[in-house]
Amino acid sequence: MTQTFTYQPPIIIAHRGASGYRPEHTLASYELAIDLGADYIEPDLVITKDGILIARHENEISETTDIANHPEFAHLKTTKIIDDEIKTGWFTEDLTIAEIKTLTAQERIPQLRPQNTAYNGIFTIPTFQEIIDLAKHKSQTIGRHIGIYPETKHPSYFQSVGLPLEATLLLNLQEINLPIFIQSFEVSNLKELSQKTDLPLVQLINNIGKPYDFVIENDPRTYADLLTQKGLREIAEYAQAIGVHKNLLIPRDNYGKLLSPTSLIIDAHAANLQVHAWTFRNEDFFLPLDLQGNPQKEYEIFFSLGIDGVFSDYPNIALTVKLNE
Ligand code: G3P
Ligand code: CA
Repeated sequence: MTQTFTYQPPIIIAHRGASGYRPEHTLASYELAIDLGADYIEPDLVITKDGILIARHENEISETTDIANHPEFAHLKTTKIIDDEIKTGWFTEDLTIAEIKTLTAQERIPQLRPQNTAYNGIFTIPTFQEIIDLAKHKSQTIGRHIGIYPETKHPSYFQSVGLPLEATLLLNLQEINLPIFIQSFEVSNLKELSQKTDLPLVQLINNIGKPYDFVIENDPRTYADLLTQKGLREIAEYAQAIGVHKNLLIPRDNYGKLLSPTSLIIDAHAANLQVHAWTFRNEDFFLPLDLQGNPQKEYEIFFSLGIDGVFSDYPNIALTVKLNE
């Protein structure tokens, strides 16, 4: 068993809450995640027309809310280009928080999680402040500190439409006595945040493509370039961790079977960076071919590499394996 960077057991980050059991990014999903033993809850953050941070994975919300069934918002349906992708639907930056609060959440992947569709139409869309209040309340009632692990979604885009996320994020996080990590797939907003806060920052790294701010700036570097020893040393100047696609730690072959681990965890630890990886899920659809029906084994393999944290849709499964280590 290789050691983690912190010499502590890996942290369990509830990815969009306990999103295997409840529609993602709802207070019910976060509360269940805490009850199932998650160390951190993970809200992805976008912003409303009136500047309120809310938890959604995208600013286009037709996939995870019932907005298409609200005729009063029909006139707001539109097409935009977000990070070079054409999107048609309803966008959070075109609705006020009062309007958002009339919507309800829906299961994102009903074909894989049909049991979660029973909760469609029940839960509202939470503000970041409501998530913080939940974490504070649960921390007090259960007697352990619940961490919050927010992600800034589309930071350059929101900056370009006059609704930057970062200042409001830091305002929301002021004087919270709970563990925090702030994450972004972009680089420049993390660098700016590092000048404004001592809270730990996480550079997210996908297994393809490049940060969208590099696209805007004509910076030729890709995510792969950030993972060289030089790239990791540069990240360590503004961030405390990398949050990586798990295939960057253990690639898969063309059939979906696990190959040998890369040296990324060792390299990142040598550069003073913790390593968190995403996303761990129970369904065979997501599991490696050689681990079908055995999500526990996937955690065991990644924990043995000295990983510092896992993003999981099923935090209770991650916890069970962690406690057996
Ligand atoms: O934030 C890291 C992890 O959540 C993966 O990204 O696309 O699920 O927000 P995403
Ligand atoms: Ca995320």
